[in-house]
Amino acid sequence: MLVATMVIVVTPSFAQDKAPATLAADYQRPQVIPFPASNPYSAEKAQLGKMLFFDQRLSRNFNMSCATCHNPSLGWEDGVPGAFGGQGKTLDRHSPTILNLAWGEEFFWDGRAPSLEEQIKGPIQSPNEMNIPIAQVVDRLQAVQGYRNLFSRVFPNEGISEQSILKSIATYERTIVSGTAPFDRWIDGDSAAISDAAKRGFALFNDEAGCNRCHTGWNFTDNRFHDIGLATPDNGRMTITQQPSDQHAFKTPGLRNISQRAPYMHNGSLKTLSQVIDHYISGGIQRDSLSPKMTPIPLTPQQKNDLLAFLGSLTGEAQAVSLPILPY
Ligand code: HEC
Ligand code: HEC
Repeated sequence: MLVATMVIVVTPSFAQDKAPATLAADYQRPQVIPFPASNPYSAEKAQLGKMLFFDQRLSRNFNMSCATCHNPSLGWEDGVPGAFGGQGKTLDRHSPTILNLAWGEEFFWDGRAPSLEEQIKGPIQSPNEMNIPIAQVVDRLQAVQGYRNLFSRVFPNEGISEQSILKSIATYERTIVSGTAPFDRWIDGDSAAISDAAKRGFALFNDEAGCNRCHTGWNFTDNRFHDIGLATPDNGRMTITQQPSDQHAFKTPGLRNISQRAPYMHNGSLKTLSQVIDHYISGGIQRDSLSPKMTPIPLTPQQKNDLLAFLGSLTGEAQAVSLPILPY
């Protein structure tokens, strides 16, 4: 008897399907926000921190709050290449987003602040930003009955102090998490959540294009510093470590809500995501400090569009941010 065997060859392509299980595990959104033991979460502390974040009384000339440069409508950035400083001077660096920083490790483009609490002292006291000694902020807030009441509830032993101000703002910042994106629904198994182009783009991201050498995990950052070969006079991480290999190295930004966060890079020098991909296609400026993880990546126009479609799938559902009523 003759038995005919038919072999069906299944090409392992996930363009039509779900994310492969191994990758899905790497990109799974976390369920809870981590808060440090030294500054645990409370809803009242976060609410107080939100008031301080939006309060212009934290600047010498009452003209600037944290939200001036980290505006929720602009992906918690400010939409300009270099931030506008408090004295009308343009800063050399672009305002980074404050989304998902509860998972951050070192802060600023060059990583010079070891915690969010430490980071906050920078902009408040910097002459080109809010330009006011924190001790003076403490005095100003002491004069406000509403703040005195709130601080004594949240910090019964401490009241209004430099530390309690920093802890409140940092707690609020840690609550700022990007919303669930179509990409997340796809990772969770909804095969219709993103387009086939975006699925192909994700495959490229993890393979031929090598983006995942640095943009790792659910927030798409390794929290490390790399020179990706942009033209810039800024020495970046080298100013902190003095290591020549850190020249022009900057912290890998997360890619959540990236479509809402133009312009791009530490100096805001690239206006569109299309220009960002073109930069990676070129491989960047060849120099000693260029990351060994950077190589020119020849992409076809369709592959470039696929990568762009994937980046577009990282925008979370809109989250309304209400302005706090500030105490007087
Ligand atoms: C004048 C605009 C401006 C103001 C006001 C401002 N920032 Fe920033 N912020 C920036 C810029 C520019 C950087 C990047 C500077 C650098 O890396 O050297 C930055 C960096 C940061 C970072 C680091 C993000 C990361 O990924 O490492 C955090 C967090 C932050 N700011 C929070 C705040 C808070 C909180 C306030 C209010 C107390 C504030 N900023 C006020 C412009 C501003
Ligand atoms: C060698 C590590 C590395 C690789 C590989 C890499 N990136 Fe980046 N990426 C970075 C760093 C570091 C920055 C910030 C550089 C700067 O500002 O000077 C960045 C910036 C970006 C930005 C702008 C983010 C912002 O907030 O301004 C986007 C978008 C981006 N990368 C996407 C990609 C894509 C897509 C790929 C693959 C084609 C890729 N990256 C490959 C490290 C890397």
